[in-house]
Amino acid sequence: MDDSPDPAVVTWAPGRVNLIGEHTDYSGGLVLPIAIQYGILVRASPAGSEIRLESEGYGAAEPVAADGGGETARGWARYAQAVAAELADAGRQAVGMTGTVSSDLPAGSGLSSSAALEVAVGLALCAVADFELEPLELALLCQRAELRAVGVPCGILDQAACLLGREGKAILLDCDSLEHRLIHVPAEAALLIVDSGAPRSLEHTAYGERRSQLEHAMQLIGATRSTDVGLSNLAGLDDVSARRLRHVVTENARVERFAAALEAGDLAAAGRLLHESHASLRDDYEVSIPELDLLVELAEEAGAFGARLLGGGFGGSVLVLTDAGRAHDVVGAVGTEYRRRTGVGGETLLVRASAGAGRR
Ligand code: GLA
Repeated sequence: MDDSPDPAVVTWAPGRVNLIGEHTDYSGGLVLPIAIQYGILVRASPAGSEIRLESEGYGAAEPVAADGGGETARGWARYAQAVAAELADAGRQAVGMTGTVSSDLPAGSGLSSSAALEVAVGLALCAVADFELEPLELALLCQRAELRAVGVPCGILDQAACLLGREGKAILLDCDSLEHRLIHVPAEAALLIVDSGAPRSLEHTAYGERRSQLEHAMQLIGATRSTDVGLSNLAGLDDVSARRLRHVVTENARVERFAAALEAGDLAAAGRLLHESHASLRDDYEVSIPELDLLVELAEEAGAFGARLLGGGFGGSVLVLTDAGRAHDVVGAVGTEYRRRTGVGGETLLVRASAGAGRR
């Protein structure tokens, strides 16, 4: 692969871990993500009228036109193609580039590797064409690219976290107004990501179905953003609509309480909210699977403050909050017992709140 020593542009974009506020972004609700220290690096130089990228892990991507036009590319090239097409649709000059992509971010674990790829490529395309976008403008553009590339109608969570991240801080984001505020993450909080070994791909899950069900429920009560909805609005709704909406209403409240608990340094309270979030995602939103439930149970038995499924659900990983001093023991106990029972997974990453995407 081309490892030319002096690419004109080096960009980096991190994965994200959403501390709490799951399946709330696409109804204009609240989320509280961090950017993590693992991510995707693009090294590129302007070249010709095409985008040619090669990845350490996935090999050469099919070349695509600098403006993202033409037939839909196969494989991971479609992410770069979709970002290029969105930039062209936004009236930006299309400049081709050639470069390499490398990553230390596990794919398919619920850490938003696709958003990181979109953002890293988006920043590189802006840089080779010599312009910059505001972080949230690029986040919205990459969110549209995700839909264009793989048809996943995701919310703004992943791309916003990737671009807004700060060292040691979580981002309390209102997904309707896009107003956000940084929340300090206490140093004693250890954040563990434990892989279930059940791969997650939102294209192949009921993500779109959940989104439609929630939108239907919101229409029934005439709400446009979930932060305007209260539990009293659920009366009289059909069972599925009521449960989907109840998750979102209670989850929005948990986000605010979790942010307050972090600010007060009350990790036990934060852990209880993770536990409640998981129960709500499992029972009301129905996006869990037995493997994720088992990991949450094992983590809590091992003495963690709390745990819950991470991201869209249906596989991937769980987030475990524990005291930094106990992290090592929790990792050992959960990994060993999970592998003993299932024969797979149990790999753990210790993540920390880190800086967001940018040029390197
Ligand atoms: C996926 C989507 C996000 C968000 C989460 C669930 O990660 O990409 O937009 O909806 O699921 O919170």
